[in-house]
Amino acid sequence: VNVDNSREQIALERHSPPRLIIRNSQSRILRTGNATVRRVSVFGLGYVGLATALCLANKGHLVTGIDSDERRVRQLDQGIAPFFEPKIESYLKRAIDEEYFRVTNDSSSNAESDLAYVCVGTPTKHGGGIDLSFIESAAEDIGISLRKREAYQLIVIKSTVTPGTASNVVRPILERESGKTCPTGFGLCSNPEFLREGHAIQDTEVPDRIIIGSADMNAATKLERFYSEYYGAGLAPVIMTRHENAELIKYANNAFLATKVSFINTIANIAERIPGADVTTVAKAIGLDKRIAPEFLRAGIGFGGSCLPKDLSALMAFGEEVGYNTRLLAEVQAVNREQISKPITYLKHKLNTLKGKKIAILGLAFKPETDDLREAPSISIINDLVKEEAQVTVYDPRAEMIAKSIFGSQIAYATSARESLRAANGAVLVTEWEEFTHLTPQDFLELMEDPIVFDGRRLLEPGRMREAKLQFDAIGLGRESFPVAKY
Ligand code: UDX
Repeated sequence: VNVDNSREQIALERHSPPRLIIRNSQSRILRTGNATVRRVSVFGLGYVGLATALCLANKGHLVTGIDSDERRVRQLDQGIAPFFEPKIESYLKRAIDEEYFRVTNDSSSNAESDLAYVCVGTPTKHGGGIDLSFIESAAEDIGISLRKREAYQLIVIKSTVTPGTASNVVRPILERESGKTCPTGFGLCSNPEFLREGHAIQDTEVPDRIIIGSADMNAATKLERFYSEYYGAGLAPVIMTRHENAELIKYANNAFLATKVSFINTIANIAERIPGADVTTVAKAIGLDKRIAPEFLRAGIGFGGSCLPKDLSALMAFGEEVGYNTRLLAEVQAVNREQISKPITYLKHKLNTLKGKKIAILGLAFKPETDDLREAPSISIINDLVKEEAQVTVYDPRAEMIAKSIFGSQIAYATSARESLRAANGAVLVTEWEEFTHLTPQDFLELMEDPIVFDGRRLLEPGRMREAKLQFDAIGLGRESFPVAKY
């Protein structure tokens, strides 16, 4: 036991609750308190992989991140996060500095690990299903790296995959490439991830529940013990089940969230046709029913992001594959498409034509606290505006760089919300960034040529906006809805 040099002191202070760090003669950590330190590989360093890797490293595990993207590996190695995500950069810098986390594109280093997480992407392919090529190549790489490893390794799939993938795709590849048999040579678990962008670290550290799917009780129990040590008294409810259920749970979860959003957007569309009605009051009231719950009842111009649209399409394609018409999900998707197109319909109605009109777009990211533009409603809105020959000026506190790589010089980029509004004939609030709450009715009145404002996220206070004689409309807000309920 060696706890008197500065590295150990740092570790002692950092871990909460403080733990004893035990090292061998080469100063390698062997144990922290009563939790065994594991060597862990994480394949795929996107939101899920990086958050998983850094949270494990933060608890004192020795983590190797493996990614085939050399640029990403180089960046991470220098402590630079590949995307904006709260807390990620500070966790990354610390883990790299203190040598709990290293990054490589060499998958053979997985041979050293006790645990391997698969966190690679499963993008949408033509027809809505998922492309398994990254999963297949990670499974091949893991299998090859295990050929020479004598000891058992537990392989954990965190990537979102349709039911049957672990048993019918991953396991056969691992067995073929490693020359070992599951469950004796290695263990395989499905452990879907539910983290939200913008809360990746927080959701990894405090999950609502942990799902462990496996065909093998021994592997499932090992993973459950690993999480019991990791979370201690804060361990969330654990559901241990078959691979197929674990895989379906992830899709059911996201499809349900998408359904909630399209449901409240349906109510919003009805509310807009009732003078004085306001969907936010209705959402607040129904959310107080414990059977409904308040989350995911914010009406708006539709859901986007890397998960909800993709998982909905994948579940629909899977339903078709197994002979079930997922018509409910088809409607959820159709309602969402319609929501995304609402700002264009609105502006056309107000301005007659969009040709040559200056339109300000407030917010680009698919939601606040991220610079992610994947499946963001802003993309389709801007594309439509450009098609109609409008002059578009956008402002987003984080996503400008990514937007430039998509739209280039087709649109203009402002450095503040106020700047984007200058001389505009119409403005659409697309992402509910907190800073937009500071915009006053006077900002719109003074800066815009025509003060026509559409709040696509219900961020602005309708009473104030309408009193100021702006031409103000918002999702789910009935015409002439005064006074607006306050709570
Ligand atoms: C989602 C799931 O929440 C997460 O569990 C899963 O692991 C990945 O997909 P994320 O894509 O980060 O996470 O975003 P989320 O916060 O869920 O929002 C998804 C979309 O729904 C956003 O476009 C958001 O604006 C929209 N949304 C969400 C609404 O329109 N209304 C709401 O009430 C909630």
